[in-house]
Amino acid sequence: MKKQIATPIQDGHTYGAFSDRDEAIWAASTEQFVDEGHRVFHDAQAIGGTVGISCDMCHPDASNTHPETYPKYQVQLGRVALLRDMINWCIENPARGRPLADGDPRMRAMEAYIYAKRKGVKLEYGRSRPAQRPRPGTASRVRWKSHRGSHSGRVAWTT
Ligand code: HEC
Repeated sequence: MKKQIATPIQDGHTYGAFSDRDEAIWAASTEQFVDEGHRVFHDAQAIGGTVGISCDMCHPDASNTHPETYPKYQVQLGRVALLRDMINWCIENPARGRPLADGDPRMRAMEAYIYAKRKGVKLEYGRSRPAQRPRPGTASRVRWKSHRGSHSGRVAWTT
């Protein structure tokens, strides 16, 4: 049932003034945003890399992206990083592309997708090295092809 809005004047019950239809629209647009992130994350061209690899090749289902641990100190960057800083680190390094601007729609969508995949995981900002040090037996080989030939590398993951 739709809630009736008796008067347009704010009476303090801000959330009570929204209808089921409003909520359905918000849910659909959030889903659309996350879907766009899923698309970019799986598209080697969309991230602008130069070696033909997409994020999911190393992070299937956004695994090992640990968005819940940000902000945290990242050794590669030598500073406290936000999630987007590590997304850019991966664009520049493994994917050999150019970093995206913070407000780039692809960056925004990928952040949305990565957070969406960790729904329910406890926020634990600042969690850094020790918890993420790879444990024996968790490493896997990753292979990808590019115009420069075939590549492979070892990626060691925890969770
Ligand atoms: C060739 C493999 C590879 C590809 C492709 C790749 N990554 Fe990564 N990514 C890594 C590795 C290795 C690390 C771990 C770096 C570290 O912490 O030492 C990492 C770390 C991350 C982190 C931080 C994880 C944490 O624990 O804090 C995020 C976020 C991330 N990648 C997102 C992305 C996104 C988004 C893309 C696509 C634009 C991408 N990665 C592409 C290998 C890859």
